[in-house]
Parts: sequence; C-alpha cells; structure tokens
Amino acid sequence: MKKNRKLVILSALLTAMMLFSVACSSGDKEGNGDGSVDIGIVLPTKDEPRWVQDETRFKEALADTDYSVEILFSQGSSAKEKENVESLLTKGIKVLIICPHDGDAAAAAAEAAAAEGVKVISYDRLITGTDAVDYYVTFDSVAVGAAQGQYLIDKASGKDNPLYLYAGAATDNNAFLFFEGAWSVLQPKVKDGTFVIKNSPEAVALQDKAELTRDEMSKIIGQITTNWDFNEAKNKAESHLTAASAADKGDVYILAPNDGTARSIADTFATDSDVTSFVVTGQDAEKASIQYIIDGKQSMTVFKDVRTLVKDSIDMAVSILKGETPGTTGAYDNKNKEVPAKQTEVITVDQENVKAALIDSGYYEASEFTGLE
Ligand code: BGC
Repeated sequence: MKKNRKLVILSALLTAMMLFSVACSSGDKEGNGDGSVDIGIVLPTKDEPRWVQDETRFKEALADTDYSVEILFSQGSSAKEKENVESLLTKGIKVLIICPHDGDAAAAAAEAAAAEGVKVISYDRLITGTDAVDYYVTFDSVAVGAAQGQYLIDKASGKDNPLYLYAGAATDNNAFLFFEGAWSVLQPKVKDGTFVIKNSPEAVALQDKAELTRDEMSKIIGQITTNWDFNEAKNKAESHLTAASAADKGDVYILAPNDGTARSIADTFATDSDVTSFVVTGQDAEKASIQYIIDGKQSMTVFKDVRTLVKDSIDMAVSILKGETPGTTGAYDNKNKEVPAKQTEVITVDQENVKAALIDSGYYEASEFTGLE
C-alpha cells in the first residue's frame, strides 16, 4: 500500500513535469513541442519596409506569449500566400492572421482555413468576396486618405494649383478606401477651382461627382495606380511629367498613396526643372520617409501605429483560442458579408510634429535619423 502510494505520487509528479514542459515549449515561437503552431501569421511582402515593420512589432509583442506563432511572407504572390496558409494548416493552427496580397484572390486561402475550423482574422487589408473571414483589424483607411487630401488643401492657396493623383494597387481594398477619403475632401476643391487635375482624364471626367461608385473609382485607380510598386510609381510620374507642359507644373500638389511610392514620385518631381515646388503626401511613417520629411524631401506621412494593430490582432487571436468572442468596434463590407472589425485612428505627421509623434512617443530612436531638431 505504501509502495503504491509512492507510485501514485511519482506518476503524479511525472505528469505534472510533462504538462509543465508542454506549457514551456508552447512558448517557443518556432512551434509547440510537437511541432504544431497555434497562430499563423501571413504578411504580404518583405520588399516593403511597412511589412517588415509589422513583423518586427509582432515579434516584440509575442516575446512573452504562451502560444506558438509562425510568421510567413507571401512575397507579392497569391500562390505563395495560399501555400503559406496550407503549410500553417498542416501545423494545426487554430487562428490565421493574414494580410492578403490580393484581397479577392486570398478568398481561396481563407476558405481553406475556414474548412478546417480555423478562425480567420484579416489584418490591415480586407479579404474580399468570401464568407470565410471572421474578423478584421485595421486602421481607419478612409481617414488616411482624407488626411492626405486635407494636407494638400491646407498647403494650397489661390486657384488653378496643379494636382497630380496617384493610388495604390486595385487588388487592395485599402487603395479604394484611401482614394475615397482623399476624394471626399479634394473633389470640392477641384470643383471650386483651387486644384486642377493634371494626370487623369478619368478623374477629370468625374470631377463634378462628390461621391464615386466603386466602378468609378476603379476607372480612376486603373489610370493612376502605382500597384504599390516604387518603380511603377517612378515610371508613371516620369511619363506624366513628360506629357505635361511647363504651365502644368510650377508649384504642384501630389497625392501619393504611401511612403514608398511618395519617395519615388518625389524624387522624380524633384528632377524636373519646370517644377518649382511640390507638396507630396505619404503614409506609414517608414524610417526612410521620416528622414525625407526631416530633410524636406517629402511633406507629410500618415502615422499608423503598427503596435496597436499588432496588439489588437493578437488579443483577438488569444480570445478566440480561449473560446471567447473578441471585442469589435464596427464592421466592414467585404462584398459578401459585414466583417466585424476593430479600427484604429491615424495621425498626420510633418516637420512640425515629427519629433513629438515618432521620437518622443518611443516609436523610433532619435539616433536612427540625422538632422532632427
Ligand atoms: C497598407 C499600407 C501600405 C500599402 C502597400 C496598404 O494596404 O495599408 O500601409 O503602404 O498597403 O503595401
């Protein structure tokens, strides 16, 4: 009997030790002890600093997690993205956090996950045209575009200011939201003669319409898209400047959709001798653009605090893993359903507040920049 009691205690101890080791190894971000993964994260590309920043912030936020997490990049390919999701599914993920390369094309990957009972959180960009999206964490993208447009308005005076419009990729739902926001403030200022659109006949044809349908926006975006690609942005800006007369230049205003394309477009406009000055927008607060802003080569950026988005998506994933329902603040139409969403505000940053918004707030180190006052 005594011996039996010892055995029971020993086996209880062994079980406790085993449980403890499972709990520890599940803290290993490379996978649980058995190689399985709890949360899969798929990001669009390493070629843009924006998404490398997200990866860094995910790693920082996950340093102390008890869950195992794996982050994969799709390198601008929907096929690679689907492969990534499939590989995560074989590792037994229960939650997928995914920022699609192409919103419509990613529906297939989301459906593959949903078919295995995996909850899908669309991250920053919405997956469209499917029911297989459970939640969406995002910045207020319409506000991003409105902040960009408003910045141009605030810097302009008088009439007939040349306006050059650029947009993101038409495969990204955000490109529409950014453009919608920008159009909502710029269109009245085109109508009253403050600005004259110089590089998009489609936009000129629609300039009397305050609100555009998705099809109308598609027509404009089709003409002014950068595809989120630095080279495409540069080539497009070059051909617009070649086609424009000296009278279409002078002091110009440029709606550039994000920081990467803003730097390309700004560099191109800077080399045109008929351009006397330009105001150019951006978004993402990429380090290279913060340096451009300090140096006066890019006018503004819209700061989207990735730490908040990362935290919101992890909190959501953890709620799901615990069997709870994550909190949301609204919903976004993905063409198939209203996806419950958690939305974060954005901040306009230019030379005036760059130090307060990005350095004093602890987002970046002052030592990462030169010429900061
Ligand atoms: C994101 C932007 C990013 C762009 C290009 C958008 O969906 O919201 O932050 O600059 O994609 O990657």
